[in-house]
Amino acid sequence: MVLKQIRDDYDAYVDAAFKVVPERPLRDHLQARAERAAAIVFDGAWPAVALFRLKRWLRERKLYALGWICDVISRTFWRVFIGHNVEAGPGLIIAHGHVVIDGKCKLGRDVQISPFVTIGLSNSARIGFSPYGPTIGNNVYIGTGAKVLGPVTVGDNVRIGANAVVIDDVPPDTTVVGAPARVVGPNPWTAGELAAFAPKKRRRRTQNNGASSTV
Ligand SMILES: CC(C)(COP(=O)(O)OP(=O)(O)OC[C@H]1O[C@@H](n2cnc3c(N)ncnc32)[C@H](O)[C@@H]1OP(=O)(O)O)[C@@H](O)C(=O)NCCC(=O)NCCS
Repeated sequence: MVLKQIRDDYDAYVDAAFKVVPERPLRDHLQARAERAAAIVFDGAWPAVALFRLKRWLRERKLYALGWICDVISRTFWRVFIGHNVEAGPGLIIAHGHVVIDGKCKLGRDVQISPFVTIGLSNSARIGFSPYGPTIGNNVYIGTGAKVLGPVTVGDNVRIGANAVVIDDVPPDTTVVGAPARVVGPNPWTAGELAAFAPKKRRRRTQNNGASSTV
């Protein structure tokens, strides 16, 4: 189960890498795959996502100390902290690290998070203290430095611009920018268009899962 989740996340990184891997000759094939794997591991922060999956799995088995070690490794090497109350669908991508996600948050499938993003509680006097963080839909892209705060709902197929501060609900299929974030237009990257880029294997997996949107 946890290995499948980790594998699904890796597949999402493979899709996002958009790297052409020739089938032959074998030498070129292996070299391209190795280069892609190195980029995903060292630049892409995929291990931080894998450590988050592993932490949740360990905590479900009451192995809290081992879960904490996962956190320490993730924070030390990738500067990524994802709280244990966070639920994330398959295909989570954290590009480059430096991300905090905390509180009772839900992330849909195929959420892509750029560096220096915070997703968490609002501590706002307007809504009073709430342990609930954002609920983020499927196929959401969050630009660098953006903050998504409090019990807000971000719809499917949304793009959040760099440095946006999202403190209100965001309708699906839109692009939002600014602080506080406001809608500036539709999201031109629809799920169908993205699916065209996805390798056949991953498209098959998503179809089998009966996913409602995204690649
Ligand atoms: C939000 C974003 C996706 C919009 O791209 P786009 O669809 O090409 O939109 P445009 O550039 O046409 O901008 C539309 C409007 O929003 C404004 N805008 C765009 N991005 C903005 C941002 N991050 N903050 C504030 N305003 C922004 C533009 O100035 C423009 O305003 P105008 O209509 O008044 O002129 C893009 O600007 C962005 O922020 N991408 C994030 C990139 C990123 O984080 N990369 C991570 C690399 S690791």
